[in-house]
Amino acid sequence: MRNSSRGAVDPFIVMDVMEAARQAEDAGRHVIHMEVGQPGTPAPALARSALQSAMSADALGYTVALGLPALRQRIARLYGDWYNVDLDPARVVVTPGSSGGFILAFTALFDAGDRIALGAPGYPSYRQIMKSLDLLPLEVQTRAEARFQMEPSDLEGLDYQGMMVASPANPTGTMLGREALGALIGAAQERGAAFLSDEIYHGIEYEHKAVSALQISDDVCVINSFSKYFSMTGWRVGWLVLPPGNVRQVERLAQNLFICAPHAAQVAALAAMDAGDELEANMDVYRENRRLMIDGLPKAGFDRIAPPDGAFYVYADVSHLTDDSRAFARAILDEAGVAVTPGLDFDPLRGGGTLRFSYARATADIAEGLDRLQRFMRERGHID
Ligand SMILES: Cc1ncc(COP(=O)(O)O)c(C=O)c1O
Repeated sequence: MRNSSRGAVDPFIVMDVMEAARQAEDAGRHVIHMEVGQPGTPAPALARSALQSAMSADALGYTVALGLPALRQRIARLYGDWYNVDLDPARVVVTPGSSGGFILAFTALFDAGDRIALGAPGYPSYRQIMKSLDLLPLEVQTRAEARFQMEPSDLEGLDYQGMMVASPANPTGTMLGREALGALIGAAQERGAAFLSDEIYHGIEYEHKAVSALQISDDVCVINSFSKYFSMTGWRVGWLVLPPGNVRQVERLAQNLFICAPHAAQVAALAAMDAGDELEANMDVYRENRRLMIDGLPKAGFDRIAPPDGAFYVYADVSHLTDDSRAFARAILDEAGVAVTPGLDFDPLRGGGTLRFSYARATADIAEGLDRLQRFMRERGHID
């Protein structure tokens, strides 16, 4: 059978790393997982028990395309609680993960051939989804001094119909402050480009609260998810917040593309939003893991790092150690039994010299992983 050219997207390298780690585990090796961008914790207990009750009381058929009204209302309330933003629930659309949200938003907002500015390094699926929809990702090489976030000066002279940011970002964990985010929103709006803000790591922040694009403008598309802070990756539920004028178009697309986000997951997600204590206990783990990483990575010779503002990643410059991060990550897996992600996933141009370390798992694993990394680097003669 023939294949489309727009469907010929690159593989998600971290998935290949996960597969290599799984094979090593099948062969009896113990692997520390610093590659995966997902919490080791399950969905909150409240979420799981809400679903148990719903399963005995309800057929859990399709929901309306925009999502359970109670969930949309509860999400709107979150904006009041977290950001002091008064949000109309009618602007909230529940999606099959933020990944489903990207497909809906990109399809609703852009035409084939439109150009969307986004920073590199960045989450790889943005550009792959865009490519599969015949959109053109316009990757801007961000500066380390700007903590790998786009700046308006990067965009001067460029032609684009959309701009997309993530704060906290994957793979760097850096955030855009109110002023920097406002400047980017202003630059996009000045030229009539749609502004999209991936806020999936909100809630997982350390020194300062993350700023939502909705605190700055109503004329933005915010994408969020239950995957990270709410610890529900496999449940596949996320949301969009849209300007009122864009909701109906997204609704029509959602009806046709997905019908709805999984009903069971929506029930669980609604309950998860009241699981504050459990979610904050997860945050205590991330906080301690972050402390261990900031202390332990430099001791292991990975000293070109910046403390992340949020999320659960550290992005390390290893260009003095290798120009082939894929081979280097493979050696770390084979020799040290630690799975890490090569930067090429996030930055095809410069990622040969970077690695991403995830610290989303249990603290004991992080401590063991750091010990193993230190041993590996000592054996290679990179540290004393
Ligand atoms: C920045 C970012 N956005 C979106 C996603 C996709 O998340 P989901 O589809 O599970 O909501 C991820 C997953 O790692 C991510 O890192």
